[in-house]
Amino acid sequence: MVAKDDYTYQQGFGNHFSSEALKDALPKGQNTPQKCPYHLYAEQLSGTAFTVPRTHNQRSWLYRIRPSVVHAPFKRNETVNPLFTSKFGCEDALITPTQIRWSPFSLPEEGEKLDFVQGLKTLAGAGDPACRSGLAVHIYTGNKDMEKKAFYNADGDFLIVPQQGTLDIITEFGKMKVAPNEIAVIQRGIRYQVCLPEGASRGYVLEVFGAHFELPDLGPIGANGLANPRDFSTPIAAYEEEDHVEWEIITKFNGVLFSAKQNHTPFDVVAWHGNYAPYKYDLANFCVVNSVSFDHIDPSIFTVLTAKSDTPGVAIADFVIFPPRWAVQEHTFRPPYFHRNCMSEFMGLITGDYDGKSDGFLPGGGSLHSVMTPHGPDAAVFEAASNADLKPVHVGDNNQAFMFETSFMLSLTYWGLETCGKVQHDYYKAWEKLENKFTGKLE
Ligand SMILES: [Fe+2]
Repeated sequence: MVAKDDYTYQQGFGNHFSSEALKDALPKGQNTPQKCPYHLYAEQLSGTAFTVPRTHNQRSWLYRIRPSVVHAPFKRNETVNPLFTSKFGCEDALITPTQIRWSPFSLPEEGEKLDFVQGLKTLAGAGDPACRSGLAVHIYTGNKDMEKKAFYNADGDFLIVPQQGTLDIITEFGKMKVAPNEIAVIQRGIRYQVCLPEGASRGYVLEVFGAHFELPDLGPIGANGLANPRDFSTPIAAYEEEDHVEWEIITKFNGVLFSAKQNHTPFDVVAWHGNYAPYKYDLANFCVVNSVSFDHIDPSIFTVLTAKSDTPGVAIADFVIFPPRWAVQEHTFRPPYFHRNCMSEFMGLITGDYDGKSDGFLPGGGSLHSVMTPHGPDAAVFEAASNADLKPVHVGDNNQAFMFETSFMLSLTYWGLETCGKVQHDYYKAWEKLENKFTGKLE
């Protein structure tokens, strides 16, 4: 059964929100009164350095029943999930320039019970969270709720792309339901619990270590289009009162999992305000911009969110989608062109087909075309598109493919390249049938 989203949200991207679950729980006119309303504790969560320029500054104030510092010491806990990592040095990871495609990643097996954190498996990545540089790509597969467990990531922001099963996420800032064809972003430090109301679930995670996601600049497109700010939804304050119940707080801190116990719920925030808060977005709201005359435009026009590097125009990672849209270009080879890219491209499929490949790229699977690795349409797509009647056609009906595109060179984990067992070793054959068509004559 599909879980209906009956939660209430606040709309807008990067807004300074205010939300209180009890009337007048937010202090008026100041952040840290001598005594907070309802005897709550005031706590700031900083998402950026105190001193970054105002336009980049992100922080929120939380007013909670207990401050989050009330817990036992963290202990290293490798048993939580050894496949969830941030180690991408040469000793720990595998590198290859070969085109890679994965069949759909396996859901938990019969009798296997995995929650969201237990089911996270790191596929690829680059950089190092300790140096605030790089990213990771993870796959999650799970089938049970996190029970009295909350997770926070000290290393980076998570952009979560559900492919199967709705996520019911309880955060310190309130609750979100995130279904396939929606995404969620949960920033560093925010504690949350994921429940899986539809059972077996699968999806993708893009983690960035050194930046927060932003809407891309629109340049000549103007003030509107692509992902519009008003379509992003942030939770409203919601709190639980639960004392003398043991909770486990799990964190990934510099690539290592730790856990700590506490005897009360972490979701005791009665009110909050600020601009550092989780959000979700429905990909169906993406306003597609494309060529209406000729030629295939670069996929940057499909960027939903970007995590910028310090080099203008170069992303640590972009989240790009290939949504349903009209293709109308005249005298044009309409599918993606053959190319080699200075960026790395990890692609996944939420549902349907992808117009660049005729088979083998399936929902819940993926592909990786690394820096300068050639790729493009397979022979069947090339033949069909080279001879197609170029009427306006609606492409991608009921489809949603996406790309995590990064300027970093990705390494693969041993699980990603070997033990997941999903690498299609015959992928290179997709291009084997592209023949020499050169005639030496203009026709
Ligand atoms: Fe590409």
